[in-house]
Amino acid sequence: MCGIVGYLGHRLAVDVLIEGLKRLEYRGYDSAGIAVLDPEPVTVFRCKGRIADLEAKIAGDRPDAHAGLGHTRWATHGRPSEENAHPHRVEHTVVVHNGIIENHLELRQQLIADGATFSSETDSEIFAHLIARELSGNDPSPEQLFEAVRNILPRVDGSYALGVLHGSCPGALVFARHGSPLILGIGEGELFAASDIPAILNYTREMVILEDGDIALLQHDGLTITDGDGAAVTRKPLRIAWDPVLAEKGGYPHFMLKEIHEQPRAISDTLAGRVALDRGEVFFESDLIPSGILDNVRQVVMVACGTSFHAGLTAAYEFERHLRVPTRVEFASEYRYREPIIDEHTLVVAISQSGETADTLAAVELARSRGAYVVAVCNVLESSIARAAHAVAYTHAGPEISVASTKAFVTQLVTLHLLLLYLDQQVHRLDGALRRRWLTALSHLPTAVAELIEDCEPVIKRMARRYAHARDMLYLGRDVHYPLAMEGALKLKEISYMHAEAYPAGEMKHGPIALVDADVPVLFVVHDSPVRSKVIANIEEIRAREGRVIALTLPGDEEVAEVADDRIEVPSVDPLVDAVLLAVPLQLFAYYVAVHLGTDVDQPRNLAKSVTVE
Ligand code: M6R
Repeated sequence: MCGIVGYLGHRLAVDVLIEGLKRLEYRGYDSAGIAVLDPEPVTVFRCKGRIADLEAKIAGDRPDAHAGLGHTRWATHGRPSEENAHPHRVEHTVVVHNGIIENHLELRQQLIADGATFSSETDSEIFAHLIARELSGNDPSPEQLFEAVRNILPRVDGSYALGVLHGSCPGALVFARHGSPLILGIGEGELFAASDIPAILNYTREMVILEDGDIALLQHDGLTITDGDGAAVTRKPLRIAWDPVLAEKGGYPHFMLKEIHEQPRAISDTLAGRVALDRGEVFFESDLIPSGILDNVRQVVMVACGTSFHAGLTAAYEFERHLRVPTRVEFASEYRYREPIIDEHTLVVAISQSGETADTLAAVELARSRGAYVVAVCNVLESSIARAAHAVAYTHAGPEISVASTKAFVTQLVTLHLLLLYLDQQVHRLDGALRRRWLTALSHLPTAVAELIEDCEPVIKRMARRYAHARDMLYLGRDVHYPLAMEGALKLKEISYMHAEAYPAGEMKHGPIALVDADVPVLFVVHDSPVRSKVIANIEEIRAREGRVIALTLPGDEEVAEVADDRIEVPSVDPLVDAVLLAVPLQLFAYYVAVHLGTDVDQPRNLAKSVTVE
């Protein structure tokens, strides 16, 4: 939520900041702004709306400045407006902030009582007042600005990634991190800061991931990082291998479509170097679970939000069925507050594309504090959840920019399959033949997904036009096809704004079937499964109420053909892994419905890619 960019170097700051903000726009896009240090001594541009609006506003007036801060906002405190857009300025102190100040009312009242006048409804402006007061109107040196930031931070409860500059201190930027991601980039004679790697990947691959409690001073002659007590800390730079081109649209009209098409390569990357087919073995880059831990495990709990939650739900069927260990999947936002039973007998699997989702991170911290062993399944390298867990299995999907998660989902599924097979190497529930069959099936997925996209995309594009004006849609399935139905419904509602709900097909007659009429299309996932015939019976129940049925089904399934109005055919690789294939047409259907309706596919209303606040 919200994106921050900072730059100090020899390039035109406006260009670097705008470019970086465009790459962070998925994090929030209701208002934006930049501040640059120039002879003014500081110039601030802000506006309600998108980065393109900000760019248009600046177009004729690009100051010749080489340092500055930028921000794209997802509103928490205060509506989207120019006044509430960051950067916030008090005298010559300018701040950008991502996160939430929990004691903002108390601080605001204290500051007002002390004579401060607020010009926005945001909690973030508090930082500018606190720092300006700490500086008492003096022109600070870089070190004094840094100290002022360090001194005020203990007064603030909540989460922040904070960027600060001062008009009288042209060669310095200060950043602080607590609970919201912040990375620094090191270039040739220039330094960058950003909420996420893609924002600055065009300029440098050398990155430093700040940790909670870190405060950094960026100057032309280098970088200093301390903890909250002012003691120097060393953060080893990482070399990021991601190809910057992955963060471009590459000729596709939307990132979402590009990311759907990247799935074959993403799955190959997830599997690369992790599978010995001949021996039926799985490896991760490090030893995920030291021996002995699993001997004590009596339950697996997966915690996640949104699409990652659906990946967990899908995998949980297989974990329980094959590993014979009780497996639950919990919304992280519920889990963290409901006093769950967690102890050293619990293996927690935390699933998150961004690795920054606040609720999932809090669930991980809770689980660790109660003695559980935590494995993270994350996409973003060195993200907060990846670092908070005992071990991490990266999904290697590459940067996912579209708010709607696609390649992250399928690579989460594949990683969770690998994790299951990896755990089985310690608990020995599967026989060798099944393990080899499973790994062979996984290895066929990249080709199968590529062929499926090629075959089904034109069909779905035409079909989506026919359903784009439905009022509501239902998605139904049983067993692993139920969480897939949930994922299909989430995709549709988040990008097309069409109301869509998912149910286990067997639940329909317990209430939801009352919704069915000729205007409510029902999408069934009815594929190769022991409960296929039961789902066909559920289709009959819908048809008896004049519902229109779309079936995601096996090619040549005549029984389904007889009862469905429309079919999307998905060839099977192996029922063990077909969930990965079935996700693809659900993504394409949502995408083309949204395109027909003309919504903003990559940046749907009210959403942000990384939900770093509660
Ligand atoms: O980064 P995470 O996987 O933790 O994000 C969780 C959800 O916010 C995310 O999956 C969200 O539901 C997506 N927009 C769905 O497409």
